[in-house]
Amino acid sequence: MNKLLLCAQLESAREHERKAISREIHDELGQLLTGLAFEISWLHRKLPAGNRELSERIKGMKALVDAGIKEVQKISAGLRPRYLDDVGTRAALDWETGQFTNRTGIRCTQAIDISDSDLPPDFSAEIFRIFQEALTNVARHSRATDVAISLKHTRGGLELEIRDNGRGIAQHEIDSPCAYGLMGMRERAEMLGGKLRISGSHGTGTTVTVTIPLEEEEIRQHAYPDSR
Ligand SMILES: Nc1ncnc2c1ncn2[C@@H]1O[C@H](COP(=O)(O)OP(=O)(O)O)[C@@H](O)[C@H]1O
Ligand SMILES: [Mg+2]
Repeated sequence: MNKLLLCAQLESAREHERKAISREIHDELGQLLTGLAFEISWLHRKLPAGNRELSERIKGMKALVDAGIKEVQKISAGLRPRYLDDVGTRAALDWETGQFTNRTGIRCTQAIDISDSDLPPDFSAEIFRIFQEALTNVARHSRATDVAISLKHTRGGLELEIRDNGRGIAQHEIDSPCAYGLMGMRERAEMLGGKLRISGSHGTGTTVTVTIPLEEEEIRQHAYPDSR
């Protein structure tokens, strides 16, 4: 069969699937979160007056669920995180890191050696999503006390690394067919023509590395900025 036609058909099948998944997320997860938001509001109303600490906690929970609902809407609408467009990748990464530390108490050191103009627009949303999932995993699974984040130019392109000092990750966890978060990160990296590596062992923590090749012209300009 004509190769171009086959590509077009594949792309349209993929598009179809994305829409179905998007609907599923929107309906199933959206409704569940909305139900949760109502339950939390009910709890808040029933809370005996005067318990400030509990009240603040419940408010915090409600805010998280509301953020979750918004996120579900954004994902299912296939939109990029809005503030990424508004403030740029660097500021969005900073903000996200700050939020992460506030919420988890895990220390973060950041080395971001790129400016917003270095990142092709399509890249930043994907990189940002990978970054968010990696941090969520650190919070959920690692029991780490420190995370080091770096985003820099390498010989072949860009490299994002999230390194924690937690319990490490086993090969069977990486290979698990239920590792949808890891799969999602890998797929996003591959969409950009890049690769995702996960390594980690007991005692050294877990490192997620994404390498994304840039067009030769872009590499040349970054490696030899004076040659323009
Ligand atoms: N930073 C990490 N430290 C330790 N284990 C991790 C880390 N990230 C992921 N894992 C392990 O890999 C599994 C798969 O991750 P993921 O696909 O994101 O699934 P989920 O977060 O939904 O459990 C996790 O359940 C966890 O056991
Ligand atoms: Mg995960």
